[in-house]
Amino acid sequence: MSKFFALIPAAGSGSRMGNELPKQYLSLANKPMIYHAVKTLCQMQQIMRVFIVLAPSDNDWLNYDWSEFTEKLIVLNCGGATRADSVLNGLAAAQSELTIDANDWILVHDAARPCLSSSQLEKLIDELSDDEVGGLLATPVADTLKRSNANTRIKHTESRDDLWQAQTPQMFRYALLSKALTNTTNITDDASAVEALGLQPKLVHSDAYNFKVTYPQDLALAELILKQRKTQ
Ligand code: C5P
Repeated sequence: MSKFFALIPAAGSGSRMGNELPKQYLSLANKPMIYHAVKTLCQMQQIMRVFIVLAPSDNDWLNYDWSEFTEKLIVLNCGGATRADSVLNGLAAAQSELTIDANDWILVHDAARPCLSSSQLEKLIDELSDDEVGGLLATPVADTLKRSNANTRIKHTESRDDLWQAQTPQMFRYALLSKALTNTTNITDDASAVEALGLQPKLVHSDAYNFKVTYPQDLALAELILKQRKTQ
């Protein structure tokens, strides 16, 4: 039986938020943002361990209390220059912490997606655990898409047919993901690396609540979603 592990790359600076504190630590519903995804992943019984990949220079993690997650949460101080480097370094470091088999599943999740829900996570695991390739949560594109020129004038309208927005978690087997990330550069998600091997990851229908907090106004929206969920 393949085991399940989660890995959260959290070594980015989040410069688009315009804040000195790295994005993953910005306050959201009275916790650092990363706490929310850590909690959702740690609560999932099938997931054996949750690895967090921090920048070697991270000075903020230890300012918070993570003891509720006990040994299920493992911190790796090996983040790299890009997200892909952080994931790849994390995969190698995780293997030296405990035995991970080639066919075990790794769910890579961005620290900046705090509104991941347990039901989305369950759906991802249910739909992919027998899959040959793996896949990711994603939503069909709803808006009309415009391609711009250098003067922010519309060059043309792109068709949105069959277009999806990639989210995380992205779920691939340990050996495949390591190989894929070793072989690619200039990618912004794990699925692109797997695609570059000629494989076709599966898109698992998600919803817009699992959006990535990128700009300052996104924080208020994430907070609303988390607070509303708490009262349900
Ligand atoms: O910058 P962006 O929002 O695309 O980052 C996505 C995720 O990748 C975040 O969780 C961020 O902390 C992480 N990341 C990383 N190492 C980097 C850059 C980003 O772990 N060098």
